[in-house]
Amino acid sequence: MAKVTVHTSSTASEELLIATGLEKRFGTTYAVRGIDLRVRAGEVLGFLGPNGAGKSTSMRMITGYLEPTAGAISLCGINLLTHPIEAKRTFGYLPEGAPAYPEMTVEEFLAFVAAARGYVGKEARDRVESVIDRVHLQGMRRKSFETLSKGYKRRTGLAQALMHDPRILILDEPTDGLDPNQKHEVRALITELGRDRAVVLSTHILEEVEAVCTRAIVINQGSVVFDGTPSEMESKAPAHVTKHRMDHVFRMMTTGEGITSNARGGKSGMGGKR
Ligand SMILES: Nc1ncnc2c1ncn2[C@@H]1O[C@H](COP(=O)(O)OP(=O)(O)OP(=O)(O)O)[C@@H](O)[C@H]1O
Ligand SMILES: [Mg+2]
Repeated sequence: MAKVTVHTSSTASEELLIATGLEKRFGTTYAVRGIDLRVRAGEVLGFLGPNGAGKSTSMRMITGYLEPTAGAISLCGINLLTHPIEAKRTFGYLPEGAPAYPEMTVEEFLAFVAAARGYVGKEARDRVESVIDRVHLQGMRRKSFETLSKGYKRRTGLAQALMHDPRILILDEPTDGLDPNQKHEVRALITELGRDRAVVLSTHILEEVEAVCTRAIVINQGSVVFDGTPSEMESKAPAHVTKHRMDHVFRMMTTGEGITSNARGGKSGMGGKR
């Protein structure tokens, strides 16, 4: 019987992002203490944790904007630390804050990003139009970045991250500052993008995790204290908690408040007091 080998350029289950033993020390303070992340195509990973937990620092390391003190990072099989240029083509990154030049208009900025990604002529114009459509920036295209509202700045940031249709998206608080309608639209977009990509997003909105994430990681003081599905996380809330169960579990994991003996768990316990 003939042996049949099926080759697929991308399968829904391949691990596109692998970070192991990720550590960052600033002076004598550890911001990130040995985090492991593995994200497959088709996964939307919610990266949760209180202010200062180390989410943005981890994302900056994964995207090559900050050198890790220790650890290894592989993006679509490319070692970021030894092949940064090739690795940086594999992902789109929405950093915390506003990634743009204040005096540029939205379309000038996006054209600049398209050129920086190596697109020219019609392809560059088509890509700019496509991301403007995807994040609904049509009405703002001729406004300068500095005059945009916070939500439109965020959307422009998301548009630049999508320019090269990357297989990996790293989004640091993508819905921060968006109105409820826009939150809804951006969540739908992330769900759609996450079908065949690896998405990591940080958020403080736990209902967002339930709405869009297939998996959640909670970090506290630079260490992972939970890694599981949103429903596994929610199920750690005590039975008497009927409202805002995810918030309750988050508090248990990051402050130690409200822990009952049957609610302990997660990958490395419940974290500790800050
Ligand atoms: N460049 C830096 N120099 C010194 N300390 C830093 C630097 N960047 C971050 N830190 C520290 O590292 C820790 C983690 O910060 P980080 O920004 O990663 O937190 P975060 O989880 O993203 O928080 P938030 O929810 O507020 O965005 C904090 O204690 C922060 O003060
Ligand atoms: Mg942050």
